[in-house]
Amino acid sequence: MELRDLLDSRIRDVPDWPKPGVVFKDISPMLADPEAFAALVDALAEQCSAAGVDKVVGIEARGFILAAPVAYRAGAGFVPVRKQGKLPCATYAQSYDLEYGSATLEVHQDAFAPGERVLVIDDVLATGGTVAATIDLVRRTGAEVAGVSVLLELGFLPGRAKLAGLLPDESVRSFITV
Ligand code: PRP
Ligand code: MG
Repeated sequence: MELRDLLDSRIRDVPDWPKPGVVFKDISPMLADPEAFAALVDALAEQCSAAGVDKVVGIEARGFILAAPVAYRAGAGFVPVRKQGKLPCATYAQSYDLEYGSATLEVHQDAFAPGERVLVIDDVLATGGTVAATIDLVRRTGAEVAGVSVLLELGFLPGRAKLAGLLPDESVRSFITV
């Protein structure tokens, strides 16, 4: 089976969650399937190697699940981008808009050496606010964003357009677009 079809078959639609009218994309069945999870981690690790990446960034929380094994597999370091107030040392912080209100992400100021190449990994690209804030954080440390990889892209939302001014389109990769 093609990787895309394997992954797609392990993502579960949950209607009306977390609120009426929203169809939540639950990746739990994919994570629980050793073949699908390993295939995704291997494919992401190949992207790291092809891009000559030094470090992999995972975005709290679901991005952590994917990014940490990818970093291990690719022989790269792992850096967490965390929600506000979780990192103990000096941080850069970046706020971004949610549907209602806003949220803030942080990274340690010393997470990267200057010029290090970074792949940003998350599970889903929706409006793009989360990834755009993360790109900003990585750049403020002096590191270089080599690309963004997500499992799933919601094509009916403007995430890719939001990133268009930040990265070349071909540097933003997804395995599935719905
Ligand atoms: C979800 C998802 C992405 C983000 C995508 O995370 O895991 O990180 O939303 O949305 P955006 O493109 O519109 O910014 P969420 O903030 O719900 O938290 P979690 O990963 O901690 O569950
Ligand atoms: Mg998330």
